[in-house]
Amino acid sequence: MIPARSIDPLQLRILVIDDDNEVRLSLQTVLETLGYLTATAATGEEGLETLARDSYDLVICDLRLPGISGMEVLKQSGSAAPLILMTAYGNQDIATQAVHAGAFDYISKPINPDDLIFTLRKFEEFERLKRENTALRASLSDKYSFKNIIAQSESFKSIFETVKRLSQFNTTVMITGESGTGKELLARAIHESSARRGKGFIAINCGAIPEQLMESELFGHRKGAFTDASRDKKGLFEEADGGTLFLDEVGELPLHLQVKLLRALQEHSIRRVGDEQMIPIDVRVVSATLRNLEADVENGRFREDLLYRLNVVSIHLPPLRERKEDIPVLVDHFIQKHSKRLGIPAKKVPVDVMQLLLEYEWRGNARELENCMERALVLSQSNEIESEALPEAVLRSHKRRIHGVVKTTVIDNDNLSIKQRAAALEIDLIQRALAKTGGNRTHAAKILEISHRALLYKLKEYGLSGSDPDLK
Ligand SMILES: Nc1ncnc2c1ncn2[C@@H]1O[C@H](COP(=O)(O)OP(=O)(O)OP(=O)(O)O)[C@@H](O)[C@H]1O
Ligand SMILES: [Mg+2]
Repeated sequence: MIPARSIDPLQLRILVIDDDNEVRLSLQTVLETLGYLTATAATGEEGLETLARDSYDLVICDLRLPGISGMEVLKQSGSAAPLILMTAYGNQDIATQAVHAGAFDYISKPINPDDLIFTLRKFEEFERLKRENTALRASLSDKYSFKNIIAQSESFKSIFETVKRLSQFNTTVMITGESGTGKELLARAIHESSARRGKGFIAINCGAIPEQLMESELFGHRKGAFTDASRDKKGLFEEADGGTLFLDEVGELPLHLQVKLLRALQEHSIRRVGDEQMIPIDVRVVSATLRNLEADVENGRFREDLLYRLNVVSIHLPPLRERKEDIPVLVDHFIQKHSKRLGIPAKKVPVDVMQLLLEYEWRGNARELENCMERALVLSQSNEIESEALPEAVLRSHKRRIHGVVKTTVIDNDNLSIKQRAAALEIDLIQRALAKTGGNRTHAAKILEISHRALLYKLKEYGLSGSDPDLK
């Protein structure tokens, strides 16, 4: 299947570099018949000069050239124009290397016109998406990154809107969500975007402090209030005065302290342990919980009046598996963050590795993804994240999937990576063609309207051949 043309071909200028006169001329004729503007060069050096002088949308370059090779042209031309490398059949390794080194694609010689047209249409689609993408990026600017929270999903976009609206008020906020979804990060963002940002943000995990210390921790104590109280001590409410107090795992608070917390919220003042005097406090309380507090209210573990006080506004953070479009941006963010911290260059994520990351369930949400990327950065030896560097669990879950009936391909509408989407599209079409033909590659190639050889290349490139029982 040859994708439909999507850009006016006259807009695209192609430079052909080949030392063989005949190839150069026939390629030029085909390209011009297809409606492209062309120029030619007989050597790599001449090609680079032409590229330095004029701008081209695409370079089609032979691998073997008399002076510098096609690979060298690829390296030296840098980002001047995308490049398609022509390699002799059997040079799969070099072709793959070229793609890893940044070539747009490769075609094998002798050139099959169908393959050429397919590749050019794919390039046009890339070009179109790239232009759209550039326009979109410019209009999005920083919209999806809010106080260190990175997201691309609609659900987070509306959460950010809520936080912005909350910024002028002192309402208490309750954040719910599975472990690792970013509850603490959001609590900080609420603080940072409010007028309280200059004052303290104090976080306390109500589940981590022994019950007998909790009251003094929250409200402070007077000297002599209990055996160890050798001097007066401020509690966290006083520490957070003027700022925000984050009560993490608030569902773990014992009932008698729930009463005291409720009173503090109602009266805007607290009493230190062992003291008579009320101390006025101005604190905004943001709390978080993994528990279902409505159910805890039902069974008497949590006070209903306190719940109403705490969740004047409630924000639910959906699990990562329900917003997969956030995975690519988070992956990128964690790679940047940790490569900087470790003092190593950031690594790219190849399409097949991203596919594994998109498929995985991430029960530990963004935290698990962050740990995974940090580890993969350290373990990958090349300048790319290698699939072997991913945790066993991620690889195992992938294997479980591909031994099912059909290997699934995730295409997210919000994922703007041209490379990933085009690859996902190709994988999808190839899988459907193979499913339709019961795995017969010759027939599948016919349906796909590419040569049998090109199909074999693609199967290898995407790791679709070999042991998958459904693909034989
Ligand atoms: N949207 C996001 N953008 C950037 N980093 C994120 C995002 N979500 C989570 N993280 C990172 O993931 C880690 C876990 O986030 P956080 O501690 O806020 O989760 P949590 O919901 O409080 O988890 P828990 O319930 O286990 O305490 C942190 O290192 C945080 O920086
Ligand atoms: Mg937390």
